[in-house]
Amino acid sequence: MGKLKWGMIGGGEGSQIGPAHRLGALADGRFEFIASALDHRPDVGREYALRLGLAADRAYGDWQEMLAGEKDRSDRINLVTVATPNSTHFEITKAFLEAGFNVLCEKPMTMTVEEGEEIQKIAAKSDAICAVNYCYSAYPMVRQARDMVRLGEIGKVRLVVTNFSHGHHGDATDADNPRVRWRYDPAMAGVSGQFADCGIHALHMASFIVGDEVETLSADFASTILSRELEDDAMVNFRMSGGTVGRLWTSSVAIGRQHGFDIQIFGETGGLRWASEQPNQLIYTPVGGRTQIIEKGEGGLHPDAQRLSRVAIAHPEGFPLAVANIYCDLADAIAGETRDGLPTAEAGLRSMAAVHAAVRSAKENGAWVDARPPMFR
Ligand code: NAI
Repeated sequence: MGKLKWGMIGGGEGSQIGPAHRLGALADGRFEFIASALDHRPDVGREYALRLGLAADRAYGDWQEMLAGEKDRSDRINLVTVATPNSTHFEITKAFLEAGFNVLCEKPMTMTVEEGEEIQKIAAKSDAICAVNYCYSAYPMVRQARDMVRLGEIGKVRLVVTNFSHGHHGDATDADNPRVRWRYDPAMAGVSGQFADCGIHALHMASFIVGDEVETLSADFASTILSRELEDDAMVNFRMSGGTVGRLWTSSVAIGRQHGFDIQIFGETGGLRWASEQPNQLIYTPVGGRTQIIEKGEGGLHPDAQRLSRVAIAHPEGFPLAVANIYCDLADAIAGETRDGLPTAEAGLRSMAAVHAAVRSAKENGAWVDARPPMFR
């Protein structure tokens, strides 16, 4: 099989996530970059695409033009990535899925639960793959943690504690900066600020490693910078389908914390800890035993962690390679292989249901509410 043909919408010059997708998609030579609508300004997007080496007839000005141009071609793209701002994900993902394209959508997949259910239904009926870029789940040592839990190496999981708390929006004098302000403005960001932006990565990770879904939650939201309408700090307690107790703190005002994403899983016979700032290491403590550091690339890892360890032991492995692992799993899935680690539309929908449940709970003083999408109750 030759290279798969790949297209991207959004992720233009200067965007935050665009470079990670280009590096990730192209890292292994399994995709070639063929078509794009990179920018909300058509001419700017076209011009950048030409500089990136795309042919002029496939450097589209907007996604509608790209869909019209690609859908009837015999050499049409095999995969499209949607890396635009959140409010556009639903209509673009829906349109491409309905035309039979495989889609990798950025998180959050949609703005509402109803939209999420619609995408899930379209994806379930179609042969096309709909994946969501929960890329942290593709770090090799996260896969190691997941397989250790699956194989019972820490016993039944009692408790999961996770944080995604940084301090980069903690400067009140910067709150009106347009690049910061939109994230706390309901018209631009939807019903939730920090929880929908970063908290859902942590919530997805808890389900991914533990292997159970979030069923109920209770949330406390705060806008610690008072001019913000949406929350910049949230504490969410949750319960999972297998009985695991969950605690999640997410914040954008935690000055001194940088990336700030970590997770601890406490089982009956051991505990695990992984932190995105030291992604090559998984910390494991068996009950009554010594704490051990399990290192990416070392011998004896479980097969998925071994497969996704791309760089020799002791050399650092970074964020774009986790995105590259998502693209590798997509290439395998497009070729018909089963890749059960690939985050799908169902994961995107479950996150949206949790965001809306957390908003409801926070408004009701932390009342416990059902966090499952109606179609999965
Ligand atoms: P950004 O604001 O830095 O870049 C957005 C890009 O999309 C710009 O190039 C803009 O011109 C383009 N764009 C906007 N509307 C468009 C349209 N209708 N058609 C074509 N292009 C359009 O945004 P950023 O931070 O790159 O975020 C984009 C998405 O990626 C968001 O949904 C965000 O939540 C997600 N993201 C995910 C991360 C992850 O860890 N998975 C990390 C960072 C962002």
